[in-house]
Amino acid sequence: MKRSIISACLALLAVTLNAADARTDQAATGKFEAGKGTFLLDGQPYIVKAAELHYPRIPRPYWDQRIKMCKALGMNTICLYVFWNAHESEPDKFDFTGQNDLREFVRLCQANDMKVILRPGPYVCAEWEMGGLPWWLLKNKDICLREDDPYFMDRVDRFQQAVATQVGDLTIDKGGPIIMVQVENEYGSYGINKPYVALIRDMLRKNFGEDVTLFQCDWASNFTDNGLDDLIWTMNFGTGADIDQQFSRLKELRPDSPLMCSEYWSGWFDKWGGAHETRPADQMIAGLDEMLSKGISFSLYMTHGGTNWGHWAGANSPGYAPDVTSYDYDAPISESGQTTPKYWELRKTLAKYMDGRKQAKVPATIKPISIPAFDFTEVAPLFSNLSDPKSNTDIKTMEEYDQGFGSILYRTTLPELPSGALLTVNEAHDFAQIFVDGKYIGKLDRRNGEKELMIPASKKGAQLDILVEAMGRINFGRAIKDFKGITDNVTLTVKDDGHTWVNNLKNWQVYNIPDEYDAYVSFGEFFPLGTFSAGDDGRLPRGVYRGTFNIKGKPSDTFLDMSNWGKGLVYVNGHPIGRFWEIGPQQTLYMPGCWLRKGENEILVFDIVGPRKATIQGLDKHLLNELRLPGQLHRSEGDSLCISMLTPDLSSPMPEGNGWKEFRMPTPKQGRYAYLSFCTMNDPKRKISISEIQLTDSSDKPIPCDTWRIIYADSEDTNGNHTADKLIDLQESTYWSSTGQNAYRQTVVFDLGSKREINGLRILPRMEPAAPEAPDSINLHVDDKLHISNTPSRQ
Ligand code: GLA
Repeated sequence: MKRSIISACLALLAVTLNAADARTDQAATGKFEAGKGTFLLDGQPYIVKAAELHYPRIPRPYWDQRIKMCKALGMNTICLYVFWNAHESEPDKFDFTGQNDLREFVRLCQANDMKVILRPGPYVCAEWEMGGLPWWLLKNKDICLREDDPYFMDRVDRFQQAVATQVGDLTIDKGGPIIMVQVENEYGSYGINKPYVALIRDMLRKNFGEDVTLFQCDWASNFTDNGLDDLIWTMNFGTGADIDQQFSRLKELRPDSPLMCSEYWSGWFDKWGGAHETRPADQMIAGLDEMLSKGISFSLYMTHGGTNWGHWAGANSPGYAPDVTSYDYDAPISESGQTTPKYWELRKTLAKYMDGRKQAKVPATIKPISIPAFDFTEVAPLFSNLSDPKSNTDIKTMEEYDQGFGSILYRTTLPELPSGALLTVNEAHDFAQIFVDGKYIGKLDRRNGEKELMIPASKKGAQLDILVEAMGRINFGRAIKDFKGITDNVTLTVKDDGHTWVNNLKNWQVYNIPDEYDAYVSFGEFFPLGTFSAGDDGRLPRGVYRGTFNIKGKPSDTFLDMSNWGKGLVYVNGHPIGRFWEIGPQQTLYMPGCWLRKGENEILVFDIVGPRKATIQGLDKHLLNELRLPGQLHRSEGDSLCISMLTPDLSSPMPEGNGWKEFRMPTPKQGRYAYLSFCTMNDPKRKISISEIQLTDSSDKPIPCDTWRIIYADSEDTNGNHTADKLIDLQESTYWSSTGQNAYRQTVVFDLGSKREINGLRILPRMEPAAPEAPDSINLHVDDKLHISNTPSRQ
């Protein structure tokens, strides 16, 4: 009885508090809409100056400081994605607490007098695992992602409802800070499907009400493909782009539309094995200045990038290019929340557009500390601590074992093998290490399209182990349906007495090694590190390393120097800190001080390759640009291209100006290799730059380039990362650039994977005004032969 009176009182109190909450909100209701040539806030012209921030990428105790830093720049809005997979790690198990407390983040924006643009996907791209989609969708193998697939749409609907439960009452018409909500994300880079985009629009209307302003964003080159008549259209483009050109088509179609660049890219993201990306501050600022002087709204993506904690970094495609842990993005506010020269320059420029108001004060930033080197004392070696296996005749993916992240070991026995047997793994996603009877044989790195490996002569019954580590799922393009582990099969090809036989390996024992703190902490038996000495390769065993380090004074931010370690993941005091990989460019991991404590701190490192020394130190600066690879050039020493005797199948002057240029071959031609030459007539020292190329088929449609490889490029400018892969990365804002060496002609050779019929070519010059560094003319030759000879270097 007593208890029911208490609960009734508590319920009444809750209702009263909620009502009070609602009343405060109601007092400040407003209206945000598209007016003639401008947005209107409560009927007055309003330029959106938005800073893009992603709350799960920032430690929660720092949210307020980061929002204040954006405000101090002179921004008036925070633009944010909602990452579905961070909120629903298992179907129907929603988490909006801690790092995931979307409502609290939106409230903090409001408390700082910042408006909010909400981008709830369901797909977001964002260099985030699978573009924000939960991996468990793939347990339904035949699912069609981002399409009107009943299962997909049902799951999207539940997620969107959950988001609305959190922030549906925080739209501006209800007194909250949310002025606009985005429908899907750059659908034009995925396909053409207005009915699907319309279904997402309807869901948002159902959840957020009829009064909320909805918009969709795309690129200037494709926004009409999926543009719905009743939505606002905004454009995404990067630093340096020709702004008038970017809006010219929109202005033609909708002369009265407010103009907004909904993602103006301040920098770019980094991939493992590629140089750190930067974009010049002056170009970024000139673009923003130009937009503001023309009354164009923008969101600066990213104003502060933050971190892909744990296993959340995604991967780019075509091909497979996993993103690093840092999402620094060369943004004005660094990954660890420091001001940068870009920040101060930008603040100066935005000061001109404050309508007489003063910019807010820049909040104090955190001073990073260094932590003296500390040694790990114990390790639980991977191979001696495997859990119970599951048995399967055929290969199954990680998802089929109900595992989303981490590593997976496939074990079987080999038939008797002569030397020269070829092991083919179709396909290992993403980094496989092969062992025979416990001896390491080699690796297959998906980044390089590696699938085959020679294995030594073996006795019947020898044990084959394939240890596969999953990295981020692809977040861009059609390849987002990215299964992990081994996706198809494993075969052995043996040539014996003139016969070739192919054996599809069966009867697998499978060991799941999920990426979870609890799994690592109780990984099995930990041994003192002194028990082990380094192997012939100089490495200590693969496995989980456990250690502690002490912080004497007040904890503060630091950068964990992982340069002694191989490849894996780090946890500190139970927090997932992120992936490391010795190849770089990132060598340190950002360790926020708010997750450290005075005195003893626990650290776990799972290294699937093995460290050279089990030691870590905390640095007071970040090492984001230390590549430890021979280089990223698409040309090996001694490569020589022999095409001067070949007659081009297409030869044309290059038309001037921005935008896609189209070329048709006089007659279609078949072949596996495309030799594309860009010529400069008069100046051999002139650089040549191109943003994208496409080869077209007989119906003038671009041939998908997912499986193409660039096998040769005369020259590539690695300063600023303008390597030849940028020609087919499907990103219009990035570009390949030659080094400007002594050459009238620059050739790039594409391996299309198989013979294709080519009908034409499309070329997109750089997006900057007047398309700088465009070639004068182009030649295309297609054939089945590889005209590259390799003279081994003399050393
Ligand atoms: C697109 C996407 C973003 C992000 C950027 C590149 O604009 O919409 O999510 O992936 O590219 O950083």
